[in-house]
Amino acid sequence: MARAMLPADTAALRAALLNWYDAHARSLPWRSPPGSERRTDPYRVWLSEVMLQQTTVPHATPYFERFTTRWPTVIDLANAEDSDLMAAWAGLGYYARARNLLACARAVARDHGGVFPDTEAGLLALPGVGAYTAAAVAAIAFDRPANVVDGNVERVVARLFAVETPVPAARPELKRLAATLVTDDRPGDWAQALMDLGSSVCRPKSPLCLMCPVSGWCAGRATGAPERYPLKAAKAARPHRQGIAWVLRDGQGRVALVRRPDKGLLGGMVCLPTGDWSTGPLDDRPPVAADWIDAGAVEHVFTHFSLTLSVRVAEGQGDHLWTSEAEALAALPTVFRKALERGLAMSRV
Ligand code: ADE
Repeated sequence: MARAMLPADTAALRAALLNWYDAHARSLPWRSPPGSERRTDPYRVWLSEVMLQQTTVPHATPYFERFTTRWPTVIDLANAEDSDLMAAWAGLGYYARARNLLACARAVARDHGGVFPDTEAGLLALPGVGAYTAAAVAAIAFDRPANVVDGNVERVVARLFAVETPVPAARPELKRLAATLVTDDRPGDWAQALMDLGSSVCRPKSPLCLMCPVSGWCAGRATGAPERYPLKAAKAARPHRQGIAWVLRDGQGRVALVRRPDKGLLGGMVCLPTGDWSTGPLDDRPPVAADWIDAGAVEHVFTHFSLTLSVRVAEGQGDHLWTSEAEALAALPTVFRKALERGLAMSRV
């Protein structure tokens, strides 16, 4: 098991990384500049952290800008219609998070007068707020010495301490080692400095050790193969499923959508009609009888399976949510947006 550093090393490493952050911090719309007295709006920190748990900074940033323009405060978000929020979230993935986001905003508005709790424990008590988000908001918005450990930080710590246990089993050890580096001094900047180091220098495939402010303390670098860390347990292969998305059009520029049940994959989202997605025989029962034309297929990779989604197109009627093509393209989750684009391209030729 990897051991913590000597206190003098910890202090020198911390100073080196914070100095680097002072000079190189990324400028991000939810962030206060390093060392700033002004604390960032907890609403913006919380929103950005929830978005960034499932996607990268470049992908999340336009969503963050749109959300904060449309819903500038947590009370505005709490008053949003569920369907508006789900549509605005389309493309960010993990749609249960969008429902949790709304549940949390409503709890802050209703139970806390629109003011976020300012401690890790208080934040953790909010609906849909897990250990990571509570720690990140406590540190970044309130400068609490919370131990903020995401995938980037895990990688940095696994390398710094040359942790030989593979992830995911190593997670508790990585968290314990990360905690040995947290102090009362600038905890919000510390958390963000580790994140920035992980994303721009201590990169997964080709770490830029020559530019790294803490390479002198890095046991992983001393092994000569820092990119080996974190070690990964062999992964089970992802199963492959297949299904059909049915693009039903009404001849007036509208397309038939359905709302999925709240529970389960893409829960609560509007989607194209589709049957079961399975590893077995294709479920080819159409939503209505019509002259269905084969428009090819799209591929999509979810966390737990990959999918070939065949696309069939027809004109017809039915008891559906009839939506303009433009609105449908904006509101659909990515896999169905790809299927609709394919179906529309087919029906234009
Ligand atoms: N990734 C997750 N949270 C982040 C943050 N606050 N800043 C930069 N990258 C992040």
